[in-house]
Amino acid sequence: MLNVREILKTFNLGTINQKIALNKLSLELFPNDFVTVIGSNGAGKSTLLNAIAGNFFVDSGKIAIENADITRLPAHKRADMISRVFQDPLSGTAASMTIEENLIMAYRRGKTRRLRPAIGAKERDIFRAKLEKLGLGLENRLTHRVSLLSGGQRQALTLLMATLQKPKLLLLDEHTAALDPKTAEKVLELTCNVTEQEHLTTLMITHNLDHALSFGNRTIMMHEGRVILDIKGTERNNMTISNLLEMFEKASGAHMNTDRMILA
Ligand SMILES: Nc1ncnc2c1ncn2[C@@H]1O[C@H](COP(=O)(O)OP(=O)(O)O)[C@@H](O)[C@H]1O
Ligand SMILES: [Mg+2]
Repeated sequence: MLNVREILKTFNLGTINQKIALNKLSLELFPNDFVTVIGSNGAGKSTLLNAIAGNFFVDSGKIAIENADITRLPAHKRADMISRVFQDPLSGTAASMTIEENLIMAYRRGKTRRLRPAIGAKERDIFRAKLEKLGLGLENRLTHRVSLLSGGQRQALTLLMATLQKPKLLLLDEHTAALDPKTAEKVLELTCNVTEQEHLTTLMITHNLDHALSFGNRTIMMHEGRVILDIKGTERNNMTISNLLEMFEKASGAHMNTDRMILA
């Protein structure tokens, strides 16, 4: 499904700030994989997602989706295949536009860019049905501006927009980290529902080690620009957070910097 082979990304090459953010990292995702990604601050997690989305080209290595080489494909040409949700609830939606205006943009993504007719009754019905499933009462607020919504509501809407046209790959970068714990759980539950219903292939960065083990089918741990652990199956089912930290220390020879992490 996704094949990342030995990708290298160095920032500020040849300067005092030179930093190898991805150090010949390899990763393969299989269809329907829901992989949680953990690692200390600065391990290269966001850079990995940026490389896959095409925010920059890697220095070397290869990235392929369904066997198509996308290594040199610009970000806007990957956008039909790859959806993203970031940490900041303000970044995924257009505040001054209404809920339905936001949704129609996502709904028509990748479709012809000629002059578009107004939002039709059929589209509104689809939006209402999808919003109803979120259980946030947004189905009755189609014409409300998004700026009126809470962070959690906006993040749920962003998630809906990201999956309205089924992407080949869903990339989540700590998308619940800015929400209060209860809202975060709700958005995570929605994440699970939508990935299951739509059979998505997902990479989810989280700093919550409990979430890392309880969501998805696979957990990878990153350190210094590489994947140092890839845990799945019964090994993962039986794993506790302290096991995980122990494994990290063995594999990396370092202590995990857990300052920003939630361990319980
Ligand atoms: N645009 C950039 N310019 C320079 N350095 C960067 C840039 N993006 C990330 N880095 C550096 O690359 C390393 C990995 O960063 P990042 O992928 O954001 O880590 P993580 O998401 O795991 O916390 C860090 O040392 C970070 O400072
Ligand atoms: Mg990050």
